[in-house]
Amino acid sequence: SRVGILISGRGSNMEALVAAAAAEDFPAEIAIVLSNRAAAPGLETARRAGIPARAIPARDFGVDRAAHEAAIDAALREAGCELVCLAGYMRLLTPFLVGRWAGRMLNIHPSLLPAFPGLDTHARALAAGVRLHGCTVHLVTEVMDEGPILAQAAVPVLPGDTEASLAARVLVQEHRIYPQALRNLICGEQVPADPRASLLNPCV
Ligand code: GRF
Repeated sequence: SRVGILISGRGSNMEALVAAAAAEDFPAEIAIVLSNRAAAPGLETARRAGIPARAIPARDFGVDRAAHEAAIDAALREAGCELVCLAGYMRLLTPFLVGRWAGRMLNIHPSLLPAFPGLDTHARALAAGVRLHGCTVHLVTEVMDEGPILAQAAVPVLPGDTEASLAARVLVQEHRIYPQALRNLICGEQVPADPRASLLNPCV
């Protein structure tokens, strides 16, 4: 399967997907990396790995969110993408793009959903005193950080943890489960229990 990745910043999850996809037996290739921010360091990282990467800045489209998303959609289709992975894409999607890619768009979120949707998940986990935290890969639906869960990994919250130390522990797991969830979805090995998930062709 050809996969497009949307980023906004560092792109370490994108890098993990690119690294996984470089393996001969991985059922996907990364066709393109797109960013809504021209300054996203991940764009250069992708190019260095030989992946076409370009910015489609929202501000080029003013207040016209639909036009911005149409440009992203067109770029994904031109690159022949069949699946889209959001990897630190920090812009809310409208039902337009979500609908175009229903069942074929994944996101990684740095918490054990449904706990802590939204921003600042690590600080909020520390403030809540949870003993377990983690990350979730899920299919994207119109509601932010909702949608059928494909994979999760938990990490302990340790005494003395700071936002940074907890984030780093979670990030290691993000990089592990995102490629795994993508592979399982493509290969049909993991059918989400949630009926809102549409099925993809299993690997042949
Ligand atoms: C990750 O923690 C991801 O879960 C969240 O934003 C962060 C992006 O990091 N949505 P990176 O750009 O993948 O390095």
